[in-house]
Amino acid sequence: MAVKLNTSSFLGIEGSIVSVEVDIERGLPSFNIVGLADTSVKESKERVKASIINSGFEFPVKKIVVNLAPADMKKAGSLFDLPIAIGILISTGQIKFYDWEKFLILGELSLSGNLNKVRGVLPITLEGIKNHIKNFIVPLENAEECSSIKGSNCYAFENLKQIVYFIKYRDLLPYKHKKMLSKSSHTSPDFSDVFGQESCKRALEVAAAGNHNIIMVGPPGSGKTMMAKRVPTILPDLSYEKSLEVTKIYSVTGNLSINEGLITKPPFRNPHHTSTTISLVGGGSNLMPGEISLAHNGILFLDEILEFKKNVLEVLRQPLEEKKIIINRASGRVSFPCNFMTIMATNPCPCGNFASKKHCTCTEYERRRYISKLSSPIIDRIDLFTFVNSLDFKDIQNYKKSEFSKLIRERVERARKIQKKRFKNQGIYCNSEMNSILIKEYCKLNKKSTEILEKVYSKYNLTTRAYSKILKISRTIADLDNSACINESHLIEALCYRKFINEDFI
Ligand SMILES: Nc1ncnc2c1ncn2[C@@H]1O[C@H](COP(=O)(O)OP(=O)(O)OP(=O)(O)O)[C@@H](O)[C@H]1O
Ligand SMILES: [Mg+2]
Ligand SMILES: [Zn+2]
Repeated sequence: MAVKLNTSSFLGIEGSIVSVEVDIERGLPSFNIVGLADTSVKESKERVKASIINSGFEFPVKKIVVNLAPADMKKAGSLFDLPIAIGILISTGQIKFYDWEKFLILGELSLSGNLNKVRGVLPITLEGIKNHIKNFIVPLENAEECSSIKGSNCYAFENLKQIVYFIKYRDLLPYKHKKMLSKSSHTSPDFSDVFGQESCKRALEVAAAGNHNIIMVGPPGSGKTMMAKRVPTILPDLSYEKSLEVTKIYSVTGNLSINEGLITKPPFRNPHHTSTTISLVGGGSNLMPGEISLAHNGILFLDEILEFKKNVLEVLRQPLEEKKIIINRASGRVSFPCNFMTIMATNPCPCGNFASKKHCTCTEYERRRYISKLSSPIIDRIDLFTFVNSLDFKDIQNYKKSEFSKLIRERVERARKIQKKRFKNQGIYCNSEMNSILIKEYCKLNKKSTEILEKVYSKYNLTTRAYSKILKISRTIADLDNSACINESHLIEALCYRKFINEDFI
């Protein structure tokens, strides 16, 4: 009789239950795996055979057929090694496993019978729980990930032998999830390390508070990269739901470090300007998420934005708008979330000194050509523009330590709380996500502010998109000020973050 065990696979970032059936019959010795298994699964035969023998068990010299069901779903990866090996041990009577249907088993075997870490354990655990399977047998290196899900009993092992003993004697309690302590220390970056640049710090605070996209333009060495890298320190921690969304993505890409449970801090991704389209947006033959999805619920930092290839930047347009990316390939169709805050940084011209305190050696033509690489659809999606100037000797010399990230984060958290309350029935979290109806409802201006905006609108021939952005940013500034209404000072500050004010440099 065929033996059946539960395991699971994943497509994109969603898990799906797979059953492994092992049938052993008399006949010419052979070992076949059927059920739309790709080459990575077929290779499992050699690992399973060697690990059974090297763990001191017997490998049957018979006709072995393994069926992975449902047969119409593509299966890839090495996580089927373990259920196949256990299935063979049960079929040959070397172990008995009566309550197999209560367990979900996965793991990669090495030739010596040791268990190796696999990808996708988090979505798989979630799928198991959804299907009322609470017990999981996983490699020890995946234990944190599996046990971090509420309601899971994770049994984690180092090798095949230990699992066989566990199935026989049940001598183990579920793995206890260790809540990770936050890793901050004296040496971690902090905004208080940054001399001066108060206006840029403020712009970053506003961007962080409302989850707005921002660009920093300035000469080399003025601290753009330094400040961008400190933005995660002023963002609030992720909620349980958001943290699950992020960890799922890191789990399927294998980016979760060993013994890392749920990711609770917003991710910060800093792809290099030589990145390819696929590494940025995802895809490839195995349908992996790219940098924009790894930045989900966190920050995507595009440093030296003008050095990116134009076609690479263009593919960002749609995900920036839709907050998700759908990838169609012969191997399937998947959707990855990518709701992130974008920080961009660039020099204003090829020599880097235009509009700064130093002398620019570029011609008008060189400068225009340089900046035109930033196409208008991308510019349209930037909410805040800020210029970072180089510091004078005096500024550095007289500098007193400025605000710590913790203080800024407290303000950002307060503003985020106001937004969460405001949008609790709207399915959004931040001001940047407001549509035109919500803008109408929540961004009402008083008489004086309306007059100012009207003047600016007609003088600079603003687009509707720019108009909405100014209102959304004004709303965030008012939230930081804990003010229910948007007054003139909020609006004027928001206007300062528009590029037309400084038409000169971009
Ligand atoms: N405002 C500042 N306060 C403290 N240190 C600074 C400041 N600005 C620059 N620095 C120092 O200069 C180094 C270079 O700064 P950073 O790389 O952030 O400049 P940048 O604006 O990104 O330059 P580039 O345009 O060349 O990329 C930093 O690592 C830091 O040590
Ligand atoms: Mg830099
Ligand atoms: Zn220049």
